[in-house]
Amino acid sequence: MDIVVSGIRPTGNLHLGNYFGALNSFVKMQEENHCYFFIADYHSLTTHPNPKDLRGNVRTVLVEFLACGVDPEKATLYIQSDLPEVSELYLLLNMNAYVGELERCTSFKEKVRAHPQNVNAGLLTYPTLMAADIIIHKAHKVPVGKDQEQHLEMTRTFANRFNRIYNVSLFPEPVAYNFGENLIKIPGLDGNIKMSKSDNESAAIFLADSPETIRKKVMRAVTDSGPVKPDQPKSQGIVNLFLLMKHFSSADTSAHFEEAYQSGKIRYGDLKKQLAEDIIRFTTPFRERMTELAANDDYLIKVARMGAEKARVSASKTIREVREIIGFRPVI
Ligand code: ADP
Ligand code: TRP
Repeated sequence: MDIVVSGIRPTGNLHLGNYFGALNSFVKMQEENHCYFFIADYHSLTTHPNPKDLRGNVRTVLVEFLACGVDPEKATLYIQSDLPEVSELYLLLNMNAYVGELERCTSFKEKVRAHPQNVNAGLLTYPTLMAADIIIHKAHKVPVGKDQEQHLEMTRTFANRFNRIYNVSLFPEPVAYNFGENLIKIPGLDGNIKMSKSDNESAAIFLADSPETIRKKVMRAVTDSGPVKPDQPKSQGIVNLFLLMKHFSSADTSAHFEEAYQSGKIRYGDLKKQLAEDIIRFTTPFRERMTELAANDDYLIKVARMGAEKARVSASKTIREVREIIGFRPVI
């Protein structure tokens, strides 16, 4: 049975990209693997959230994991900061992570460009913390979107380096994984090839969005002035709308609008109306479950406690092994 590990930073509500890129895989993978899914609250500190927002966002994401179908009995569902072992492994891995390789990481460079006034050491060592999350459970598979591939490559580097330095085979090499299909990417409503909250919040549809909000967002999606001649290549905004249809509408509906496009008779307004209703049909059960779960504090506390206990069994075992390999005394 494979060991699977994945996490999501608590930055608010989850959008359709997060669902198809991560949560949907989590739910499928929990059936046949030994899964650890967690809320990466340490990671979110690189952007300095205030304590109230942090607490609220952790709770929101916990509710959304459960509403999406992560089963705390089947998978181990926990909050990263409930595992002090992770921060210890992070410290130890940092000793063999080189500043040069961390600085070359694409997402670090992007963050430096976007926020030159907040280039903190946590941001630089984000990949070692992520590696600690993954190898603390000796994971084989990591379900994440395409944007995380480089981080995973670095995880492999750090894991192999540890094995090599100490001449052990403690850590397996984890690979990126998306259940059934190859790393799905959900496009944005703004013509961007990726739906992303960090890039443009209004171009993302959240599982928690009300039907009115979804209609508004979809109706405002970027289009063009329409096909002028048959077989005209689609602009990116239109490509995105059709891609979204593939995920949320029936094959007949997609085919109908594809035909309308090819014959030059398409009315984007009609396509958007249909797409909005199809997305609403998809998200409504999630939204309803979220409302129910959000009102059940006792249950949420119980889930988090149970997850931390289960996760610490595996994490503390790894830390004991690592300490011994490095040459530390066992913890008293
Ligand atoms: P955002 O880009 O909105 O800030 P995150 O970076 O927090 O999203 O991503 C959380 C998880 O969701 C990651 O596993 C990421 O790969 C996945 N993900 C995010 N956006 C998309 C998308 N548009 N399509 C597929 N997966 C996505
Ligand atoms: N870096 C991931 C993201 O931004 C979140 C994350 C942190 C993660 N630790 C992880 C994902 C470990 C998979 C495994 O989406």
